Amino acid sequence: LNYGVNRERRYILQVLFNGLRRLEYRGYDSAGICIDDSSSPSPSPSLLPSPSSSVNGCPPLVFRQEGNIESLVKSVYEEVAETELNLEESFSIHAGIAHTRWATHGEPAPRNSHPQTSGAGNEFLVVHNGVITNYEVLKETLIRHGFTFESETDTEVIPKLAKFVFDKANEEEGDQPVTFSQVVVEVMRHLEGAYALIFKSQHYPNELIACKRGSPLLLGVKDGAVSILKFDNAKGRNGGTYARPASVQRALSILEMEVEQINKGNYEHYMQKEIHEQPESLTTTMRGRLIRGGSCKAKSVLLGGLKDHLKTIRRSRRIVFIGCGTSYNAALAARPILEELSDLPVTMEIASDLVDRQAPIYREDTAVFVSQSGETADTLQALEYASENGALCVGITNTVGSAIARKTHCGVHINAGAEIGVASTKAYTSQIVVMAMLALAIGGDTISTQARREAIIDGLCDLPNKVREVLKLDQEMKVLAKQLIAEQSLLVFGRGYNYATALEGALKVKEVALMHSEGILAGEMKHGPLALVDENLPILVIATRDACFSKQQSVIQQLHARKGRLIVMCSKGDAASIFPGGSCRVIEVPQVEDCLQPVINIVPLQLLAYHLTVLRGYNVDQPRNLAKSVTTQ
Ligand code: G6P
Repeated sequence: LNYGVNRERRYILQVLFNGLRRLEYRGYDSAGICIDDSSSPSPSPSLLPSPSSSVNGCPPLVFRQEGNIESLVKSVYEEVAETELNLEESFSIHAGIAHTRWATHGEPAPRNSHPQTSGAGNEFLVVHNGVITNYEVLKETLIRHGFTFESETDTEVIPKLAKFVFDKANEEEGDQPVTFSQVVVEVMRHLEGAYALIFKSQHYPNELIACKRGSPLLLGVKDGAVSILKFDNAKGRNGGTYARPASVQRALSILEMEVEQINKGNYEHYMQKEIHEQPESLTTTMRGRLIRGGSCKAKSVLLGGLKDHLKTIRRSRRIVFIGCGTSYNAALAARPILEELSDLPVTMEIASDLVDRQAPIYREDTAVFVSQSGETADTLQALEYASENGALCVGITNTVGSAIARKTHCGVHINAGAEIGVASTKAYTSQIVVMAMLALAIGGDTISTQARREAIIDGLCDLPNKVREVLKLDQEMKVLAKQLIAEQSLLVFGRGYNYATALEGALKVKEVALMHSEGILAGEMKHGPLALVDENLPILVIATRDACFSKQQSVIQQLHARKGRLIVMCSKGDAASIFPGGSCRVIEVPQVEDCLQPVINIVPLQLLAYHLTVLRGYNVDQPRNLAKSVTTQ
């Protein structure tokens, strides 16, 4: 914004493009930017607006493009060349906005990309994250007032409403010009839903207004403090609520993130890098949390964010795990050890389903919210619901300061480091480890479980080495991927601790390799899935050593009897015995403590999904139609 020195338009475009590139993993079906056409006529050094009812300066320039960020960059430079826009023109203050979109309302197309505008002349421009639930009513009203709409988005009502409010205020107030924040507050009064917005206006050069309700909004600051207008709900005279601005000061926090963490390093893709850095991410997750103790001191776990709440958790009536996608699967993988060590019933809820059913949640419940981003809209909504019902809410997230981290009563950070690939890999394994530590912490120091707890802690300490070992299967998984490249479908059978592995392995294949894949609870095989078995359909069975091993052996035999095309994942050394009397493809993995085995077993499946995707020529880090962080419902 305020550069202190003059900056060329070329530089400003670069800043905006680089920002978009960093955010691309959050949504990448279209993008847009808006920049000033020329240096402001009378820039105010304090950045205060010079409001006027007449249009100030040239209308801002808007560029929007379908596809990824590079398509936008290309189209902007092409347009710049055609219009002979001067890239050398310099600005000491400049207000630009940019947006990357993940479509909710309207197909990916330039007209549906952001910034959305108030109409010809671009008097008001808005970028939006979230969903405006009452946009249809607002749209009808605005159409009655002569506005025409060009997009199918919910967002377009916002800049049009801003123009409507601005024009009306200027008609009514005569000499008293309306300020930008007054316009925005009035617009916010009419919006329902969840949103984070940035407004830019030709009437208020050198000024941007950002506001939010429900959706996350992060303000990056370079050199200096920032004052934020906070819109509190206040009671209006007619009993309704309206947003009342109040000046608040928010503390700045320094982001402790190395740039390398968000670079690919020597890897070709983020997903590949993140799979291979799991030994390190797991080490960071456990750092300072495992107390190995001397000869007379019991081994234990220290989770700082939970220590004041453990008694309440132990006294709960049950533990409810709540999450979406991979986070749900991680909780499912940890459920058996939680049940075993806490001696409490542990139930599982997919966040959206819990909210849809308005399922019973009680004051005596401990509700554990698992979310890599800490911002997933469905999980957040479930959190609000559980909180209103009085449950103790625990957050397990990978994002310090995220909405879930802030809104839960206590929690544990995963500390897996930034995960950029849309398909979650290292966050998944770190989540399982955190929840295994949670089980140990809740289990406390009961004598009867001491040996088991110590074995798990030893297993955790050795886990990074074991993950390093299983990563050596990389080439083997590539060969397997080559054999499966043309398949339509892949079934993955698991049970017990590895039911979650089957679901998560199938999810990886589905989301990145765009191949149909289903994770199946092996105990349910006879109740339907067996009908699919023939000599063509590849079936991967997870049969590593644990209490379910003999049952899985029997599953393998039954699938073999029906000529199933088997791939078996087994513990190292079991390859020869796993399949007496026949031959099938075997993936041998190191054996660890049963409750930690899902951390090992998922790695070959992550590698398989990765190689399948590359071989099939799809985008590994940005799978079709998916976003890393789903902040809309
Ligand atoms: C999206 C991502 C998934 C992720 C899910 C839950 O669908 O593509 O990889 O598992 O959201 O995200 P969360 O941040 O709550 O773990």
